[in-house]
Amino acid sequence: MKKYTGLDDITDLQELIAQARELKNNPYAYEQLGKRKRLVMLFFNSSLRTRLSTEKAASNLGMDVTVMNFNSDAWKLEFEDGTVMDADTSEHIKEAAQVISQYADIIAVRAFPTLTDKAKDESEYVISSFVKYASVPIVNMESATAHPLQALADAITITELAKKKKPKVVLSWAPHPKALPHAVANSFIGMMQKMDVDFTITHPKGYELDKAVVKDSVVEYDQDAALKDADFVYVKNWSNYENYGKVLATTDSHTSWTITDEKLGEARFMHCLPVRRNVIVTDSVLDGKNSVVIEQANNRTYSAQVILKSILENLN
Ligand code: CP
Repeated sequence: MKKYTGLDDITDLQELIAQARELKNNPYAYEQLGKRKRLVMLFFNSSLRTRLSTEKAASNLGMDVTVMNFNSDAWKLEFEDGTVMDADTSEHIKEAAQVISQYADIIAVRAFPTLTDKAKDESEYVISSFVKYASVPIVNMESATAHPLQALADAITITELAKKKKPKVVLSWAPHPKALPHAVANSFIGMMQKMDVDFTITHPKGYELDKAVVKDSVVEYDQDAALKDADFVYVKNWSNYENYGKVLATTDSHTSWTITDEKLGEARFMHCLPVRRNVIVTDSVLDGKNSVVIEQANNRTYSAQVILKSILENLN
């Protein structure tokens, strides 16, 4: 693997999942592979899981790690070409990416969308600029439209816990007071399209996702009908895509989308975390026996580790 900016960088998903599970059983098997190699992790946004699991993954492979919170610690970056930089940006991505490449063997980047400028967000200007100007491989730790490390952890979790060959997996929208990105939902959908699962997406009318992402996946607007006989229920809020970045006025019909024990039935409850209790999901579900969110978060380490391993094995 030369980079991991999206699911298209995966050539053999089943092999990647199998390797991740082997790493989970034997995390230090490749502790020499990353010796004297450095991962530089750049955060333009907050993180708990991504930061700690990716750092642990790199450390398991013997890598050194540098973490920078870009917005608070670095010069404000300019991404536009030809700008007269006489306002608030102090350094251009062209120099920054080349300079960081001299200090890193792999660069990992987290940069969320604006949720105000759809075209800019969909251009993935932050991560694309790093890919363009850096001379080392880039890993996506959640960009404007994608969260492929999370999706790989989700695929590992479903593979580990599935009790049947082709489980029914439902992605359900749930309410949230703030406008949230589409990245987790987009990558989860893309991942389910690569897996042998019976997959359904459910959300209230008005919360349709990008058609280019949904493709021919089943969309069922009746949440109860969608959840019937589900084996895994993956719950996530996303803001409006058509009326970009907006949260539609909350109605009773939206608050009724909160996941309860009754809705979940015997299915496993999945969420990428962080999650708002008693908004997205009830305490009872989250604390109950069918919640697998902690296992999911644990698999973030092996998702990151298998990706870093694949990239390290292909470094020049
Ligand atoms: N799921 C996830 O990416 O968590 P963090 O935002 O805490 O990294």
